[in-house]
Amino acid sequence: MKKITILDIQKKKDEGKKISMLTAYDCNTARMLDECKVDMLLVGDSVGNVMLGLDTTLPVTMDEMMHHTKAVVRGRKHSLVVADMPFLSYQVSVEDAKRNAGLLVKEGGAEAVKLEGGENVEDCIKAICDMDVPVMGHIGLTPQSIHRMGGYKVQGKEERQREKLIADALAVERAGAFSVVLEAVPSKLAGEITEKLRIPTIGIGAGLDCDGQVLVINDVLGLSGKFRPKFVKQYAQLEETVKDAVSTFIDEVQTKKFPSEEFSFK
Ligand code: KIV
Repeated sequence: MKKITILDIQKKKDEGKKISMLTAYDCNTARMLDECKVDMLLVGDSVGNVMLGLDTTLPVTMDEMMHHTKAVVRGRKHSLVVADMPFLSYQVSVEDAKRNAGLLVKEGGAEAVKLEGGENVEDCIKAICDMDVPVMGHIGLTPQSIHRMGGYKVQGKEERQREKLIADALAVERAGAFSVVLEAVPSKLAGEITEKLRIPTIGIGAGLDCDGQVLVINDVLGLSGKFRPKFVKQYAQLEETVKDAVSTFIDEVQTKKFPSEEFSFK
């Protein structure tokens, strides 16, 4: 199976083909998504909310990102693996940013890193790209800025925010990023940004006109409990399937139906 590179991601935009990206946090899920030929696997810092039970992504550490990145890399053959840079791994200094991005590639096995911000992280993106580590930007609703934004809110509705988002997108491209996530941005604005940029935009809650789409895998599979933002489409309801299977197992243990001869050794 052909391995996807950042050149293929750019080619897709140039040829008007849409790009798919899903989060993955473990080897087995990565293997399944890879076998479906998803273009990119994102080891998101959403691992904090989705897998570790945290309220925000802020406490996620480099060690945790490294652990999950290594697991995802072991499961994929085809998809491009992008690892999120967690809070405080790039905000303090450009040196930190370079070292931490380098570690996610050198030890984690990722092929690109993602970090949040626009004009404020332009130097940082440029420095990481200068080390030949591909960077994906992330603007709009940036969960690491939850306390500044005052909640998980759509960004770019007001004129001032709109102009700022366009400036951020241009800064990310200018710094050398190979793509940029637009999160929770009005569809029209996301379309305008997509037209202005040479690099692909990957939307989440940013409408149809982005060059690609990303979702959190647990949301796609219906494994996120009651949590369901407007932009999430559930393609399966696995929570019910899991609960049915587990209830049946418990019942069969209690009624001594399991393990029958079929599942026992002579
Ligand atoms: O961490 C994450 O899962 C993300 C996506 C939602 C884009 O950043």
